Amino acid sequence: MKFLKLSSVVAIASTVLASGPADGDAIADPNSAVVKLTGETFDAFIESNPLVLAEFFAPWCGYCKKLAPEFVAAADSLNESHPGIKLAQIDCTQDEELCGKFGIRGYPTLKVLRGPETIEDYEGARESAGIIDYMVRSSLPSVQVPETVEEFLALVEQQTKPFAIQLSGEDDEESSDAYSKVADALRKDLTFVSVKGKEFIEALVSKFVDFDASSFAEKAGYVVVHPAEASIIPFSGEEINKDSLTAFFKTEVVPYFSDINRDTYMLYMEAPLPLAYYFYKTPEQREEVEEFFTKLGKTYRGKINFAGLDASLFGKHAESLNMDPEIIPLFAIQDSANNKKYGVDQASNPDGPSIEQIKELIEDFLEGKASPIIKSEPLPTEEEQAASPVYQLVAHNYEELLKDTSKDIFVKYYAHWCGHCKKLAPTWDELGDLYKSGNPDVIIAKIDHSKNDVETSIPIEGYPTLFLYPANGEIDEATGLRKPVVFSGPRVLDAFIDFVKVEGGHGIDGHTLKKVEEEEEEEQEEESIDHDEL
Ligand SMILES: *[C@@H]1O[C@H](CO)[C@@H](O)[C@H](O)[C@H]1NC(C)=O
Repeated sequence: MKFLKLSSVVAIASTVLASGPADGDAIADPNSAVVKLTGETFDAFIESNPLVLAEFFAPWCGYCKKLAPEFVAAADSLNESHPGIKLAQIDCTQDEELCGKFGIRGYPTLKVLRGPETIEDYEGARESAGIIDYMVRSSLPSVQVPETVEEFLALVEQQTKPFAIQLSGEDDEESSDAYSKVADALRKDLTFVSVKGKEFIEALVSKFVDFDASSFAEKAGYVVVHPAEASIIPFSGEEINKDSLTAFFKTEVVPYFSDINRDTYMLYMEAPLPLAYYFYKTPEQREEVEEFFTKLGKTYRGKINFAGLDASLFGKHAESLNMDPEIIPLFAIQDSANNKKYGVDQASNPDGPSIEQIKELIEDFLEGKASPIIKSEPLPTEEEQAASPVYQLVAHNYEELLKDTSKDIFVKYYAHWCGHCKKLAPTWDELGDLYKSGNPDVIIAKIDHSKNDVETSIPIEGYPTLFLYPANGEIDEATGLRKPVVFSGPRVLDAFIDFVKVEGGHGIDGHTLKKVEEEEEEEQEEESIDHDEL
């Protein structure tokens, strides 16, 4: 399940993050505050500077050129405001060894170094304001503890994005410990504040009239403040621990309705909730629905998140939602936890979905009544299936076949564009032929995984992936299908045959089938020779 979520992150990252590179120089102006580091100077610099943002780059790389002016602007500004934070560049074409040590695979790669021991991936935005914000946040302790009410209120005033407060009347060590662990993990997304004492709670209440803080007087309470809406959302879970607090903050930090783009997509992807998208083409289209979706966002908080997406920039993402990117506006819901996608039908609504249709889909979805959109190739006809040496799977016949637990089913998950898959195809056909004619208890199958949305209990990380579902095998509860055995040997006929014999539920020895077939062939050859001679 975790992987499925990751795959959707990758899918949107690749569409959302892909905006064109720029011209210009990737190497920062030597007069700027960016420090050029080399293999020789690196260690000493990191030893003596407690917080460094290091950019590993190559001068020819387009994205590095695009980043350079932003990086310089952030460095110059931080040099003035926070001289303890340093921004540095390492040219990987000159210092291959150093970049190798850090496992740099793509350019630019940004890492936050807190001394030589603590190295973190930079996960902030790539424009100067975002870099500054991220680095200043990185320089602060993960939980801020204002000492006076004035300091506290000043801190509250400063916040422009949702932030977290721990309010406690008295000591509560256990939950404070959980809170600081959560803060360490989420510091890049949220500012965390902690205050203790009734006077702080009263000060907050006086700022936010709607907020009832009476329950926070004794034990620790947790809230997220949304400065834009001047609202406070209290944690109402039963148990306070690291997991429950993490889920609460990750849910509440997401705006009720805002756009998915390079800077916000991780926020949405990390929220443990289904995500509803509204794709629009023009600012007018977005404006029309802003109020509607903000209201839905409030109503369905904790159940579904809502986001807009500018189809003129990231329209291709519709494909990973099984929707048609040509028909905009569109509305779709992505349920990553179950790897299912839902959408208002596009074919019958060429001008986009109506408000009523959107509401209906959300309600059906929450009641478990909506039908997911399944991406599938058309079902092969009986003739096509009969003519093919391997069983042709598509999303529409996938479950039906795999639920037949009386057979050993060996499936090749491939993609039509994959070279290794093409190379394997003749061998796979040969294997299919062998059992199709030799023993129907073994089925050799194939599915183009890039064109058919099907679930697997083991994530598919590359193509081709070969899974054997053994007859009478153990059932995986999440998918309702058997747990597959992964083939990882050399992709040759004999190895496949051995695998089916050893791992299959029937233990069928394909080598004997092979012999029969060869003998038959030999006999036929002999016959034909005889025939020729006659
Ligand atoms: C960095 O800040 C210091 C102190 O304000 C200043 O002297 C120096 O010129 C600045 N460096 C750059 C490159 O702006």
